[in-house]
Amino acid sequence: MTMTKVVGGVCGAFLIYLLGGWVAETLYHVGGGHGEEVAAYVIEVEEGGGGEEEPEQDFETLMASADAGAGERVFGKCRACHKIDGTNATGPHLDGVVGRDVAAVDGFSYSGALSEAADTWSQENLFHFLENPSGFASGTSMSFAGLRDAEDRVNLIAYLDSLDG
Ligand code: HEC
Repeated sequence: MTMTKVVGGVCGAFLIYLLGGWVAETLYHVGGGHGEEVAAYVIEVEEGGGGEEEPEQDFETLMASADAGAGERVFGKCRACHKIDGTNATGPHLDGVVGRDVAAVDGFSYSGALSEAADTWSQENLFHFLENPSGFASGTSMSFAGLRDAEDRVNLIAYLDSLDG
């Protein structure tokens, strides 16, 4: 009796499997031949890939189209530690930082890690530093994860640059 049930169960499962396969085949073939199926699949893959990987743009091109107004909003992520009125907080003040010597604010005790990594805060150095602060200057006391979006970074740099003077 048990054996019959097992065999029956297996056969049943097999039948359902076959039937399912047949239904799937039928649905799959509706509306076109083999060529179209392949094309549909390729389009899907292209859409998936295109959405995730944005084409790498070089720094100069990005910087040229930077928007300081948008950068002011990005600066909201820095405000907790940085001021732009010439006074220091958790971090050194950032007004005038673009073009400034690295670790050059009087009265701020730097970790020393930044000066190892760069001499001047050129736009391009900032661009790389802000992507991954501890990757750029290992050991830095700036505990900030970084801004992964390159556009956010150029916008922010343009904003900081606009504060000079
Ligand atoms: C959690 C606090 C914190 C946050 C958030 C933070 N910073 Fe900093 N930042 C610091 C500290 C601390 C230092 C000094 C690092 C050192 O000496 O290693 C620093 C240093 C810097 C320097 C180097 C300045 C100099 O005089 O050499 C720049 C540029 C800078 N931060 C930019 C930013 C920007 C832009 C943001 C926002 C995207 C940001 N930081 C977010 C704490 C922070």
